[in-house]
Amino acid sequence: MSETILNVQNIVKRFGGLVALNDCTIDIKKGSITGIIGPNGSGKSTLFNVITGQLKPESGAVFYHGQNITGLEPYQLFELGMLRTFQIAHEFTNMTVIENLMVVPGKQAGENLLYSLVNRRRIQEEDEVIKQKANEVLEFLKIDHLRNELAGNLSGGQKKLLELARTMMVDAKIVFLDEVGAGVHKTLLKDIADSIERLNKEKGYTFCMIEHDFELISRLCDPIIVLAEGSVLFKGTSREIKSNDEVIESYLGRGAKK
Ligand SMILES: Nc1ncnc2c1ncn2[C@@H]1O[C@H](COP(=O)(O)OP(=O)(O)O)[C@@H](O)[C@H]1O
Ligand SMILES: [Mg+2]
Repeated sequence: MSETILNVQNIVKRFGGLVALNDCTIDIKKGSITGIIGPNGSGKSTLFNVITGQLKPESGAVFYHGQNITGLEPYQLFELGMLRTFQIAHEFTNMTVIENLMVVPGKQAGENLLYSLVNRRRIQEEDEVIKQKANEVLEFLKIDHLRNELAGNLSGGQKKLLELARTMMVDAKIVFLDEVGAGVHKTLLKDIADSIERLNKEKGYTFCMIEHDFELISRLCDPIIVLAEGSVLFKGTSREIKSNDEVIESYLGRGAKK
């Protein structure tokens, strides 16, 4: 449990004259659910974007299982089992829930045209395997009743669950969740939290999540990392955070929701 899966070292990321990440260093332990909190503009999403390959840092490095992955493209990180969800969900609105799962890039041979002409039967079998996997995922997340619903008709919270479902179609090792609770109804939020907990406990997923809802983050996360002005202000349990005056002032004093 104490093995480090991800190590972010001294990251600097600038946007013009603005320093969004300022010598930011964090460690994520394998099997943990690590929380990231901090005021708006403190660099949380930028940190995720650097880790998951959407942005290249000016300096510093990211190591995954000790391998330097700085500057790799998102699809390369995806192949290593590093996945993320976005603050705004990215579903295909005109496809059903199960179709959304079936198009998650896997190692389907059917993507090769020549292969598909020659091996039609084999591809039908592979399709069946993928469909079965998708059904298992929907059952695990208790959203099998939404199987044939168009993704565009889902509520905000259901879309977040669909994003989690998509991570289960591949062999995810570490999943980054950016404000999974934002705009989600309380009852559905509990379902999402339960799913995160079960994926962590039963499937061994490591999570790193940005979240404003302190109640949710206290329930799920240990440790919690507090970012302020692009670097780490504090790292500890929710109890330690609640009793730290500097953190409370930084976190509550700058318009964070909670
Ligand atoms: N693509 C961008 N271009 C210019 N400035 C950006 C960009 N993304 C983020 N920023 C700035 O970087 C800082 C950190 O932003 P962000 O990482 O989104 O913060 P958080 O997610 O903690 O609210 C903010 O001042 C924001 O305005
Ligand atoms: Mg953000």
